[in-house]
Amino acid sequence: MTASTEETRSVFVTGLRNAHALETEAEQIIKRQLERLDDYPQMAQMLRTHLQETERQKERIDQILGSMSESTSSIKEGAMSLMGNMAAMAHMPADDEVLKNTFADLAFENYEIAAYKSLITMAQACGASSAQGLLQQSLQEEQRMARWIDDNVEEITRQYISRRASAH
Ligand SMILES: [Fe+2]
Repeated sequence: MTASTEETRSVFVTGLRNAHALETEAEQIIKRQLERLDDYPQMAQMLRTHLQETERQKERIDQILGSMSESTSSIKEGAMSLMGNMAAMAHMPADDEVLKNTFADLAFENYEIAAYKSLITMAQACGASSAQGLLQQSLQEEQRMARWIDDNVEEITRQYISRRASAH
C-alpha cells in the first residue's frame, strides 16, 4: 500500500466512524421525539419508518468497516457539537416543540445527506465499489426523509395551529 492509498483509506475509515456516531445520534433523537408525537400521527409514522432505516444504515456502516478489517466496537459515539445542539433542541419541553423538531429534523437529514455524498466520494477514491452501493442506499433513504419533511413543514404547522386553537 502506498502512503497516499493508506491516507485515503484512513480518511474513509474516519468518515465511516463519524457517520456511525451520527446515526446513533439520529436514533436517540428519533426515539425521544416519538415519545411525544401522539398528536401528529403522520410524522410519527415517518419517524418510525426512518428509525428502522437508521438501524439498517448503521448495519451497512458496520458491514463496510468489517470488510475493511476495522471494528466498530471501539467507536466513541461522542456527539458533534452541531448535533449536540440539535439534540438539546429536540427535547426542549416547549409547547411548540413539534415545530422546532421539524426544523431540526430537516437540518439533520440534510447534514446526513452531505455526509453520505462525502462518504461515497471517499469510497470511490478507495476503489471500494461494494461500499458505494451500500452508501448510495443510505443516501437515498436520507433524501427521501428530507424531502418528506420539506414537503410537510406547512402541513405540520397547520396541524399545530389547529391543535393550539382547539386547546384554548
Ligand atoms: Fe436520517
